[in-house]
Amino acid sequence: AQIKEAEFVKSSTRTEDCPSDGLPEFALVGRSNVGKSSLLNSIVRRKRLALTSKKPGKTQCINHFRINDSWHLVDLPGYGYAAAPKELRTDWAKFTKDYFLNRSSLVSVFLLIDGSIPAKKIDLEYASWLGQNEIPMTLIFTKCDKRKKKKNGGTRPEENVEDFQHLIREHFQAVPPWIMTSSVTNQGRDEILLHMAQLRNY
Ligand code: GTP
Ligand code: MG
Repeated sequence: AQIKEAEFVKSSTRTEDCPSDGLPEFALVGRSNVGKSSLLNSIVRRKRLALTSKKPGKTQCINHFRINDSWHLVDLPGYGYAAAPKELRTDWAKFTKDYFLNRSSLVSVFLLIDGSIPAKKIDLEYASWLGQNEIPMTLIFTKCDKRKKKKNGGTRPEENVEDFQHLIREHFQAVPPWIMTSSVTNQGRDEILLHMAQLRNY
């Protein structure tokens, strides 16, 4: 599962405007600032293919990237708090949900959860929404390189992941596949690529 080529294709704000070549695709979604664009860069081993920022609200469109001329990685705007006007965030939420419900070449959603902090209610709600709409998902825990000192009230990524899965179990029949990652150390990169290759071959 090697990446030989990765190129930006286009930015869209409507599902109808997304590339029409029918290539299978995987979309990265999650709270603003969770590390979607950084993970995309880590996967393709490019520092600035997708634009990242310390400020939540950087990615504002449906951004398509073509990989090896045979599939797409899609970077999306985040949900939850962001340094952008409320109307704009409402727009993002509308067009991303429309994209999830109507994009026929979408193979699976990769739902990113910050692994360095305890589970957030909004993430659970998002997972439930995807589940209710029967949109296949994989859970990606990000920032697993960040370890807060326990004596400062911090929790370890392993505990956060376990807690989130526990909550997910109360809502779903089965826990979706999940992978622990870091865009700093590239933890989980190979596992993600392998998983995507398997999903493409179904
Ligand atoms: P929006 O586009 O605003 O929704 O954010 P995003 O989810 O695309 O996040 P982005 O990739 O822009 O990263 C947000 C911040 O988190 C940046 O300052 C990154 O450097 C940092 N970050 C992302 N991934 C990791 C990670 O795995 N580990 C650590 N320590 N920091 C990370
Ligand atoms: Mg982004």
